[in-house]
Amino acid sequence: MTPFSLFRQWFDEELQLTKVSIPSACCLSTIGTDDYPNARFVSLKAVADNSFIITGNLTARKGVEINAINKVALTFWWTETERQVRIQGNATNIDSDLADKYFAERNRDSQIVSIVSNQGQLLNDIEALNKKYSDIETEFTNQQLKRPNNWGGYAIEPIRIEFLAFKPTRFHERKLFELTDGHWTLTELQP
Ligand SMILES: Cc1cc2nc3c(=O)[nH]c(=O)nc-3n(C[C@H](O)[C@H](O)[C@H](O)COP(=O)(O)O)c2cc1C
Repeated sequence: MTPFSLFRQWFDEELQLTKVSIPSACCLSTIGTDDYPNARFVSLKAVADNSFIITGNLTARKGVEINAINKVALTFWWTETERQVRIQGNATNIDSDLADKYFAERNRDSQIVSIVSNQGQLLNDIEALNKKYSDIETEFTNQQLKRPNNWGGYAIEPIRIEFLAFKPTRFHERKLFELTDGHWTLTELQP
């Protein structure tokens, strides 16, 4: 068993049962430029090449923070199966072909918002943004939209993953995988 196979198994088991609209939601924590931890929800896009892939605006706060320090955490709470997964790792930018692929998979409204909105900047004039939105809609009707340069993603390569399963006895099960010298070691922690 690897942490990736266990993650896949747990995620699939949750997906079978859940009715939430964004079951891939997880909390991405970064180290703020003011040294305070900073956390927000994002959607996990894939687990590929032993990395966890997320996407978004690269110049918004999370991007600035990852640029400065690429150590991040990704935390999942799966309500149906009552399980938590905590991942710590290093984030690196995905390449532009992969970013294009994920951008193309977004719905058109989200694509247009990513093009017109400077995520995280002060909002002074919502009407101006609405106007930009309709201009793009009209100008590019029936055309594929190009990914803006500041939209992309990160591959998070884990160094530590903890799996916690709630147990009715309250002796919750905690399995900790840690990467040492290129190999995953598995230990169990007290609840
Ligand atoms: C359920 C959920 C899923 C989200 N998914 C994403 C996502 O995949 N990518 C993203 O950039 N923001 C996503 N957001 C918005 C982020 O939480 C956040 O508001 C935004 O990315 C700006 O964060 P930042 O200022 O730290 O960069 C999501 C929010 C929620 C509540």
